[in-house]
Amino acid sequence: MMRRKNVTKRPLPKHIAIVLDGNGRWAKKRGLPRTAGHQRGAQNLERIAVFASQLGIGVMSVYAFSTENWQRPQAEVDYLMKMPKLFEDEYEEAFRASDIKVVFSGRRDRLSKENIDLLKRVEEESKDRQGMVLNVCLDYGGRDEIVRAIDTLKNHEEPIDEATLGAALDTGALPPVDLLIRPGGEQRISNFMLWQAAYAELVFMKTPWPAFSKRHLLKAVANYQKRNRRFGGLKGRA
Ligand code: IPE
Ligand code: IPE
Ligand code: MG
Repeated sequence: MMRRKNVTKRPLPKHIAIVLDGNGRWAKKRGLPRTAGHQRGAQNLERIAVFASQLGIGVMSVYAFSTENWQRPQAEVDYLMKMPKLFEDEYEEAFRASDIKVVFSGRRDRLSKENIDLLKRVEEESKDRQGMVLNVCLDYGGRDEIVRAIDTLKNHEEPIDEATLGAALDTGALPPVDLLIRPGGEQRISNFMLWQAAYAELVFMKTPWPAFSKRHLLKAVANYQKRNRRFGGLKGRA
């Protein structure tokens, strides 16, 4: 059994990124529509984000809707696009109580006016909070984010370096991803945090996101704490 105390006495990842995957399969296994999986997944986001903030994690990025997810059946896309409202109505209170600052990454030009306004409202209302940053990635793709960043720099006078491009990304001043967790059984990145996860430790877990518990998060962090992060150097190499 993974103990919280053992995890918190060792250095924690500053930035954890999670691919919220496996909602559909979780639902199918229970004879429920895929949308039931998305709903349960959204509830779980509240629980795990609050727990991560209590652990002392600085930033948690979550992949909620990719630039590729528009290819899904219209009814599923429509349902997923109602999630931000659910997020605001049902979960904002818990984030406020935990002093969690909410920001969004991803494109804003393909969302409805209601959702664009909602995202702005949630960011504005939480901007002075001092606790964990919850970065919700919506209509997000790592490639798209890099292309948009380059576009904003097209009139840049100086030569572009990594710091300049990094700061122009949606994640701007956020630290690089230390630990990337993908529940749901797939072992791929699916266009998430391509730049920010350059040296992230990867943890893939079979459990689908709606069943991902506090214990799974502790397990992933404990796994991270055992890794030897060399960043291309020789530290700890035999
Ligand atoms: C993740 O769960 C949610 C989104 C991608 C929006 P999926 O909907 O991908 O669930 P699976 O992978 O089909 O089980
Ligand atoms: C990745 O999951 C995107 C999100 C969780 C938002 P997908 O289910 O879309 O990824 P693939 O299709 O399995 O690569
Ligand atoms: Mg999936």
